[in-house]
Amino acid sequence: MVDMNETNGLVDGTSTKQTGVDLPTELRKEFEKLEQQFTVDRKKLKQISDHFQQELEEGEEKGDFLTLDLGGTNLRVCWIRLKGNKADLEIKQHSYKMPNEIKTGKASELWSLVAESLQAFIQDQALEGTKDNPLHLGFTFSYPAIQEYIDQGTLQTWTKGFDIKGVEGQDVATQLRTAMSNLDLPVELVAVVNDTTGAMIASSYHDPKTIIGAIFGTGCNAAYMDKIGNIPKIQSSPEIQSLNPDTPMAINCEYGAFDNARAVLPLTPYDEQIDADSPRPGEQAFEKLSAGLYLGEIYRRICIDMHARNLIFADADIAALREPYSIDTSFLSNVEDDRTPDLSTSADEFMSTFGIRMTADELRFTRALAKLIATRGARLCATGIAAICRHQGLSSGHVAADGSVANKHPKFKKRWGRALGEILDWSQEDREERDESGEGDESQMGPIVLTSAEDGSGVGAAVIAAMTLDRWRRGEKAGIKGAGD
Ligand code: BGC
Repeated sequence: MVDMNETNGLVDGTSTKQTGVDLPTELRKEFEKLEQQFTVDRKKLKQISDHFQQELEEGEEKGDFLTLDLGGTNLRVCWIRLKGNKADLEIKQHSYKMPNEIKTGKASELWSLVAESLQAFIQDQALEGTKDNPLHLGFTFSYPAIQEYIDQGTLQTWTKGFDIKGVEGQDVATQLRTAMSNLDLPVELVAVVNDTTGAMIASSYHDPKTIIGAIFGTGCNAAYMDKIGNIPKIQSSPEIQSLNPDTPMAINCEYGAFDNARAVLPLTPYDEQIDADSPRPGEQAFEKLSAGLYLGEIYRRICIDMHARNLIFADADIAALREPYSIDTSFLSNVEDDRTPDLSTSADEFMSTFGIRMTADELRFTRALAKLIATRGARLCATGIAAICRHQGLSSGHVAADGSVANKHPKFKKRWGRALGEILDWSQEDREERDESGEGDESQMGPIVLTSAEDGSGVGAAVIAAMTLDRWRRGEKAGIKGAGD
């Protein structure tokens, strides 16, 4: 008789138990073969379980993508291989310089430059694409755009000092497609993505605690996720009505344009002048007080004013300092962060950049000024994030931030975190909460902390392109009228 309870038994997963099956020889041999085939020992069980876990932790996005980031100073092109496993990616990238004239030139010049850079990258990296099997492109376009579909975006207004004729009111994807087809590039544009959305998606890919994607760089802005049922302005769309109201959607706040009516912003005469002299006066009111493009310019204008009033640089030739936008965030950070007893780092910076020899008083003044402007900027940057947290009822999590101010200004995170706690009325206990993923400094204290975003314009754009392609392959190509990103 065969005792079915015994046949698959193992001792310590290594040796088979005596079957104890009383069978004729032929049949017993057959049974032993079966027994071998059907036995799953402990080692195998562990191996299967490990693999199971790995699959559970795997992302679904796979494939090769091109990404393009039209930033303020450079044009970055990447080739990214997503392997489905979040921790495992391959990236090749190249940055192409954007000549300054492009920023105030014509649309055709901009798109030709973009398409030529893509072409150079495809050739250098020997990437293969054909008309039938094109390379798929995720395009990070970090300017306010209305998107009815993920693969188009109508530019509302240029920001960050750009003023290129013939793009506002137009679909940037169509313009880029035309330039790519003029060069016969085997590329299909799949997704247009804002940098904040890219930062949020790329960071969520690695860090499930991500609640917001933010950019504190040349410009400023943030994105968060909401359920479509909570977004009044898209409810009339038939596509939205066909979806479950709990479907998540990325919301690009475009909060650089917050308070364009100037009801509450603490504007100084210097801010007013910068706005008046900018290509789009009256627009991006909040951004002009807090983003990297403007911090150095505020500083420069104050120095010029102090000089005009005979308070600093009395005997110096300040011609070089008169050049608009000649001070960037890293200059400001270096001056503020100068720890030399006689402030010789700042003295050297001023000498080498502007040919100005400074007195000890001037050095102390310009350092204190750098601190003042950067502190105001960081504190204002906390107001937008606090508003999103309150609006969404978010009381803990990670704000994944990218951009030159967040990454290069050594005190930004700390000041931002302190201000966020002031707005959100954190108790002493809240403030002492240390985030386990933190680097241990004060910026990582409190229930909501600023983390460094993963590569939003590269990985984020590639992941969004992968998700879009997957939806297209499943036959969905829904668009949403009136939505942002
Ligand atoms: C743009 C946003 C962008 C932000 C950060 C702003 O000027 O309007 O779309 O996200 O800069 O780059």
